[in-house]
Amino acid sequence: MIERTLVLVKPDGVQRCLTGRIIQRFEDVGLKIVGVKMTWVDKEFTRKHYAEHVEKHFYPGLEALLTVGPVIALVLEGVHAISQVRKMVGATEPRSAQPGTIRGDFAHVSYEYADGKGVTLKNLVHASDSLKSAKREIKLWFKDDELHSYKTVHDVHITE
Ligand code: PPS
Repeated sequence: MIERTLVLVKPDGVQRCLTGRIIQRFEDVGLKIVGVKMTWVDKEFTRKHYAEHVEKHFYPGLEALLTVGPVIALVLEGVHAISQVRKMVGATEPRSAQPGTIRGDFAHVSYEYADGKGVTLKNLVHASDSLKSAKREIKLWFKDDELHSYKTVHDVHITE
């Protein structure tokens, strides 16, 4: 039940200086940061990360968004971490994301607006959507020796 998941604060989140507030939310629920780095990825790496989306109509914009500046990549660990993080991130479309979620609290744009205006949907974060994706994405973004096992107070007061 203890899972690891990949989270990216994408360049729009970093440039809006929301990194700390976004990470705070994950720490507040007791998820443990077991890996973290700031990195500026290129188009080739982005194609690997979004391999299942490269043929979609929105891919050029998505690629442009991820490569426009540095991202903060995190590996978070916790009980059902993959679904927990997805719940906290909220729906892909900020307009549909519930208040209380990251996308619902820090963005509001719709697919309709973004597509009509020809701009990329900026939704601040990426989070792995399944165990299979999490394993693949963590391996892509982090070397084994960049991931750490240690105890936090949450191990004592939340998960033990
Ligand atoms: S799909 O088609 O249902 O598989 O797409 P989805 O899983 O919702 O999203 C996959 C990633 O593509 C991003 N996305 C978009 N980016 C730009 N413009 C548009 N219209 C758009 N639609 C989807 C979406 O945010 C996902 O990226 P991440 O980084 O995981 O959020």
